[in-house]
Amino acid sequence: MKIAIMGAMPEEVEPIVAKLNNLKKTDYAANTYYEGTYNDQEVVVAYSKIGKVFATLTATILIEKFGCDTLLFSGVAGAISDELKIGDLIIADGLCQHDLDITAFGHPFGYVPEGEVCIPSDVELRNVAKEVAASKGLVLKEGIIATGDQFVANAERKDWIGSEFKADALEMEGASVAVVCSSLGVPFFILRAISDSADMDASFNFDEFLESSAKISADFILSMVDAIK
Ligand code: ADE
Repeated sequence: MKIAIMGAMPEEVEPIVAKLNNLKKTDYAANTYYEGTYNDQEVVVAYSKIGKVFATLTATILIEKFGCDTLLFSGVAGAISDELKIGDLIIADGLCQHDLDITAFGHPFGYVPEGEVCIPSDVELRNVAKEVAASKGLVLKEGIIATGDQFVANAERKDWIGSEFKADALEMEGASVAVVCSSLGVPFFILRAISDSADMDASFNFDEFLESSAKISADFILSMVDAIK
């Protein structure tokens, strides 16, 4: 087994790279990939840069070039659900693209022919996460995560995404990873810690809590690597 661990921003993967042994750095396709081991488990770590296009590229390279057969995503998200507060963890049971719109042709938001509105993540990896959370006494929310190429800092937009997709959190990469992994038959898992509430304070909260929330997510992902291997 070779596990890909992906984030979007340096803050999301640095706490993970810092814990690796036998580190080998490879520059490829305008990005840096860190191969190494975590407690003897082979991993490849990278941050994609923000957004769906970069995330698609990085997930594909982790699988096709580096031969990863499982992908774990770690990062931060904006909360939609009132139950989610800054620092809380959410795992995606499904991922959708809130900015995908060919409704002019009578299709629902988030849908294109031969695709699906909501792509489910791997059930076994979600079960591993629940066991890890139970062993650490952590609360883990499970729900739909909506992805789009927008930093949402607007209560109206956030509420629309919440009602249209039944989403509990939103971010900018998860559904891309879901499309890549489901197309290539690679089990994947998306974890996010809340950095803001996608409202008018979102950019200030994001700047303040990015690092601390990213670390909460990264620490959990490393425990998952231990639990999987
Ligand atoms: N990631 C973290 N917070 C976010 C927000 N408000 N919008 C989009 N992606 C995010």
